[in-house]
Amino acid sequence: MVANWKMNPDRQTDAVALALAVADGVVGIDAEVVLCPPTIWLLAVAAAVGPRIGIGAQTVNPAPRGAFTGETSATMLEGLAAYVIVGHSERRGAGETDGLVARQAVSVRAHGMVPIVAVGETADERTAGHTLAVVFRQLGTVLDVLAADHGPLVVAYEPVWAIGSGTPATGADAQAVAAALRGELRSHARGLADDSRILYGGSVTAANAHEFFGQLDIDGALVGGASLEAETFIALARAAG
Ligand code: 13P
Repeated sequence: MVANWKMNPDRQTDAVALALAVADGVVGIDAEVVLCPPTIWLLAVAAAVGPRIGIGAQTVNPAPRGAFTGETSATMLEGLAAYVIVGHSERRGAGETDGLVARQAVSVRAHGMVPIVAVGETADERTAGHTLAVVFRQLGTVLDVLAADHGPLVVAYEPVWAIGSGTPATGADAQAVAAALRGELRSHARGLADDSRILYGGSVTAANAHEFFGQLDIDGALVGGASLEAETFIALARAAG
């Protein structure tokens, strides 16, 4: 269960309080829980919840260091985060390309963290029947550069039209794409398909989560809005467990 807090909350005290409430609320739940706070709150959140909860970053710059104003490298994140989201549609929409996402995944992996590779089609791509072509292209670019390295990935299928819209995919549609993505992982390396996790994201709520968690190829969820309220996210983690 991965919480993508995006650009929330405004204050460090609120970020730490939310993280502590989640950490307390998920004790005894049989699900791996990961919080992805904004970069500026990463250190405080990681210090507050210690090793009890996984910590993820929301993006990374693949360059090792240098003149990249406002950016954060994988070297800087190493030791602080176990996961890094790469390729979120909100960043692809701001100009990040498949090639950049692939380089991000390589740098994350090179620093011992696990990339959470976000893939998903727009409404127009879906209408045109291009869903699988789009997500295969997005995932394939990453797999091509990770070819020599078969460590597990997390792949998050997030249809762009479902994010923050209140209109999630149906469980059956999400499962169909998740199964196809697992097939791609399997054709790349058998162990990769077994060890990697596939998440669904896009308007997941406590009311609809069971639709996704009941699906064979969906191992969890990447949650935005519903992760900002501790009780709701704890309920989601409980449902996943
Ligand atoms: P929502 O859960 O708010 O739709 O956001 C999903 C998402 O983009 C998670 O990365």
